[in-house]
Amino acid sequence: MGRGCVKKDASLFRKLGASALIMTGKNSARQNGSLEDVQAALSGQGIAFSLFDQVEPNPSIPCCREAARAAQIAQADFIVGIGGGSVLDASKAAAALVKNDLLDGDVFGNPLTGGALPVAAIPTTAGTGSEVTQYAILTNDEAQTKTSLSNEALFPALAFLDGNYTHSLPRAITVNTALDALSHAVEGYVANKSDPWSRAVALSSLRIFSHALPALAEDKIEAQLRDSLLLASNMAGVVIAHTSTTIVHAMGYSLTYFKNIDHGRANGLILGPYLSLIAKHKPELAQEILSALHIESTHEFSALMDRLLGPKESLSPEEIQAFSDRAIKAKHVGNTPCELSAEDIATLYQQGFGSGSIPL
Ligand SMILES: [Fe+2]
Repeated sequence: MGRGCVKKDASLFRKLGASALIMTGKNSARQNGSLEDVQAALSGQGIAFSLFDQVEPNPSIPCCREAARAAQIAQADFIVGIGGGSVLDASKAAAALVKNDLLDGDVFGNPLTGGALPVAAIPTTAGTGSEVTQYAILTNDEAQTKTSLSNEALFPALAFLDGNYTHSLPRAITVNTALDALSHAVEGYVANKSDPWSRAVALSSLRIFSHALPALAEDKIEAQLRDSLLLASNMAGVVIAHTSTTIVHAMGYSLTYFKNIDHGRANGLILGPYLSLIAKHKPELAQEILSALHIESTHEFSALMDRLLGPKESLSPEEIQAFSDRAIKAKHVGNTPCELSAEDIATLYQQGFGSGSIPL
């Protein structure tokens, strides 16, 4: 972690092999300097590399398959993923596909007995935490949602965190990715799978957000804030690696799949009403989150979310019904710390997309 860490600690790449496939999206890794740094670092270590720069947002299995083929052609010993959550997740999935001969229908839920190529992850957004998780979230067209591949083999072998790479991100992406990380910290804190250790890390992440969220809302996005957000997002990634996520993420996946709402924003839209629901059922958990954020009430929290989100999309009653029916079947329900019905979930959608919020 730190400015220039890719070049400074370039020798770490050598532990992963002698040949690499670099994976990026179409433009940003070139624009923010990260691709240049990685290429220089690999060259300096005598590591051969080729480039796959066609990772799409919300990557699909065919996209990951194409990258896996590129890794095989290059005889890559490891993959370097440089980008936001989409690129990091695609890199992890491609690394698994190289080692496991899977039909499309067998990718999700597969035990990945062949393991995966090692991945070096270099986040260029501060949100996903994918650089420290065992998850790869891919678009699942068969199930019409985003589905998480979860396997220990998908933990990156190495991660470099250089806040510089996030400095040129536009405000909307900065806010949306921050909302994703915030959602990981909040959901991870309350998750049934949480434990004292994961809660301690979640609180550390939330304390960073106590300064970062007001600055974001006021549009005071400076270098120090960028660095803080990258750390907060990394910590929140560690949290969900232990706890996984709750109903907010399950609800968000339909918003992304059917309404094309960015993943972090989708979570952010639900987060205000969700914290109010938690406050009703587990007031002590909600209070601890609010205290870490230096926020007085769930009402104030929702107001802050509203400021960050700006004008909201709308959902029809039919969409709310359909998305709620999907979310209630998700495994995330069992990790949410209160009983939920499809009607409860519909209410969360309604509140998230309206102005309603329940004061603590
Ligand atoms: Fe997320």
